[in-house]
Amino acid sequence: MKNSYKAHRDRRRALLASMREHSGGGLALIPTAPEVPRNRDSLFPYRPDSYSYYLSGFPEPEAVLALVADADGDREILFCREKNEEREIWDGFRYGPDAAREIFGFDEAHPLTELDAKLADLAADRPALFTPLGLFEPWDRRIIQLLNEVRARVRTGVSAPDEVVDVRGMLDAMRLVKDAQEASLMRRAGAISSSAHRRAMARTRPGWFEYQVEAELVHEFLQQGAQAVAYPSIVASGPNACVLHYRDNNREMSAGELLLIDAGCEYQGYASDITRTFPVSGRFEGRQKDVYELVLASQLACLDAVKPGAEFHDYHKAAERVLAQGYLDLGLLKGTLDEALESGSYKQFYMHRAGHWLGMDVHDAGLYQVKGASQKLAPGMVLTVEPGTYIRPADNVPEAFWNIGVRIEDDVLVTAGGHENLTAATPKTVADVEAACQR
Ligand code: GLY
Ligand code: MN
Ligand code: MN
Repeated sequence: MKNSYKAHRDRRRALLASMREHSGGGLALIPTAPEVPRNRDSLFPYRPDSYSYYLSGFPEPEAVLALVADADGDREILFCREKNEEREIWDGFRYGPDAAREIFGFDEAHPLTELDAKLADLAADRPALFTPLGLFEPWDRRIIQLLNEVRARVRTGVSAPDEVVDVRGMLDAMRLVKDAQEASLMRRAGAISSSAHRRAMARTRPGWFEYQVEAELVHEFLQQGAQAVAYPSIVASGPNACVLHYRDNNREMSAGELLLIDAGCEYQGYASDITRTFPVSGRFEGRQKDVYELVLASQLACLDAVKPGAEFHDYHKAAERVLAQGYLDLGLLKGTLDEALESGSYKQFYMHRAGHWLGMDVHDAGLYQVKGASQKLAPGMVLTVEPGTYIRPADNVPEAFWNIGVRIEDDVLVTAGGHENLTAATPKTVADVEAACQR
């Protein structure tokens, strides 16, 4: 087995242990994502499903993992495409079962074409079947078909699994706490995205279109070995910064405006997610600086609240307090802090949460609340810290603030002693941002 896939085997073993604990054993079946047509005979670039990739590291489509937790011992099986010289000439390399077993560390590997013939035997006499339910519709139908097939053999003395468990719950809990290999991939993803943001700051100029900045980001992602964007890049200038999920990226930028960029690469299956806001001309002007300093203060307050034992919700509350007080100080709101927090009046300018879990998916797996109580932060969890302020033109807002949109977002790994900021190399103070914008 290749060394880098030992972590995946450890994850499979951890899942097998959870299956025993849950139901005394059983069969887990984990399919990967289907290929998705883009138009006519073109496909979207392939991305394996996160659950499958988490457990195998196997990058090809048309693969199914089967994990058996049995009294006789465990079996880790991969079903995948066979070698095929003709298809490999047209579409590229395939591992095939033999190499896949060897490299990815499975006990057995078989051609996917044998899955149907082997599935009913694998599922017979198991107390439980663990599989994602509701993730891929054709797979759900196949699982029902499998259960009926095993049930139809009842007169031969076998029984069908009594229980079908949506395995995503167990896997989500595992994925919430990153292992050392995941942390190191996420560190790299953060570093690459950081240099992409620095490149954008250094190259953006008045008269450019937003998509030209997007091109600079993608340039750096791919130059440094990332495979893709983790999500569509948001390159939002002027009033577009107040559109939270702006995606058009086609506006011409002018001096005197701010540019908000929310962009991150995906590196070996792991996302990064950085937002920075900087002046198109390189210098903050007028009220832009006041709003920027306020969002920065709130982001630093949030970061202080990220440590083991703290509640996930703590840093969201920190953001709301600092921002609401700032809006009062800037004259954007009237009354007292308690009134603003109580009434939610601050939501006119700050209407999202302060962050989310980050991992293989940009909004990653894992519960935020457990039985009504906030999830407690623990070493290995990774989250984003991303307060913002978005001031749309309105009668109750002085014109000097109109169309200012600022978000500052970092990716943070919770450690035993507090946290590690995986995107700390992205300029953030006014002085550092302005210096990074000099060209
Ligand atoms: N870029 C997606 C998010 O910040 O949640
Ligand atoms: Mn983001
Ligand atoms: Mn985010």
